[in-house]
Amino acid sequence: MSASTETSAHWQGVIRHYADYLPVTDATPIVSLCEGNTPLVPAQNFVEAIGGKFKLYLKYEGLNPTASFKDRGMTLAISKACEKGAEVVACASTGNTSASAAAYAAKANLKCIVILPHGNIAMGKLSQSLIYGAETIAINGNFDDALRIVRELGATVRVEVVNSINLVRIEGQKTAAFEICDQLGQAPDFHFLPVGNAGNITAYWRGFKEFFDRQRTDRKPRMCGFQAAGAAPLVDGHPVENPKTAATAIRIGNPASWSGAIQAARESKGLIGKVTDEEILHAYKTIAQTDGIFAEPASAAPLAGLIKNIHTRLIPEGSVITATMTGHGLKDPDRALLTAGKEPTLVDPDTASVIKAIGI
Ligand code: F0G
Repeated sequence: MSASTETSAHWQGVIRHYADYLPVTDATPIVSLCEGNTPLVPAQNFVEAIGGKFKLYLKYEGLNPTASFKDRGMTLAISKACEKGAEVVACASTGNTSASAAAYAAKANLKCIVILPHGNIAMGKLSQSLIYGAETIAINGNFDDALRIVRELGATVRVEVVNSINLVRIEGQKTAAFEICDQLGQAPDFHFLPVGNAGNITAYWRGFKEFFDRQRTDRKPRMCGFQAAGAAPLVDGHPVENPKTAATAIRIGNPASWSGAIQAARESKGLIGKVTDEEILHAYKTIAQTDGIFAEPASAAPLAGLIKNIHTRLIPEGSVITATMTGHGLKDPDRALLTAGKEPTLVDPDTASVIKAIGI
């Protein structure tokens, strides 16, 4: 089926839809869970609540098959691993890459090894890796240690590394920028997103540039990436040895795609900024309660960045802004319960008690 006749009811994943833009041939076995085609949701209640004068659309990547944007790169990484004849794939992860790798490896009947920083993986993500059947190793160290080990594994034994140091991951992830242009009819004025290992900002910028070069849009956005203040090596200008943040997905001190992120911000006249955990969690709760979007804490970093820039001259009135909600809120239910700060009200099983409790 050609892309032009495909409807969302027939969506068959990002490789089939954007094959002309990806490093695939007829010889590539396509391993897909029908990822991509995620909604671009207007979020004007949030904009009003924060006193902004721009249009905001959220690319809700939590609605991918494993509930994060990682599936876009993983469909390609696992397909290419199969094309090469690999039998084992491996990745380091703060939780989402591992969930995605585990799912696509299961689909392709490959063995999957994931290496995680012990104690810093949100519960939903850990449960995904385990139920998809990945060999799950927790280390007494952080993500940067895990990535070092995976690089060494890749050089020592026959495993295909599917972190974004494997550049086909970046190729797959750029399809989100294509979708945004297709959904809006053109590129936005600004694109905001969280930055951890910095693969995604690299991928989006590549995608926006490619669509511009192939005349699918007549403009390119300014790229604005946000790190957590306790894990902000790109802003601080040096690796952070002990990164700390409640947004565990982006708890990374030495991003692999460092130069890609800096290049995206510089070439697009954008920026890489940092936001505190308090600002992130405020934005996380606000977007849930104004526009009904439940994204994980890391995804709220760009929204915190938006709030921070309401009174700077960064954003001209009337701008069209898109932001990536990288992972679903259900990935990290512990953080949601803590941030909501409320328990359900327990009452006797009769209507009068309920009416008394709700106060209407
Ligand atoms: N948001 C979420 C929900 C993530 O899981 C990640 C990265 C990012 C943002 C940052 O993207 O690394 O491309 O800059 N998660 C990786 C993982 C590190 O292992 O799941 P990035």
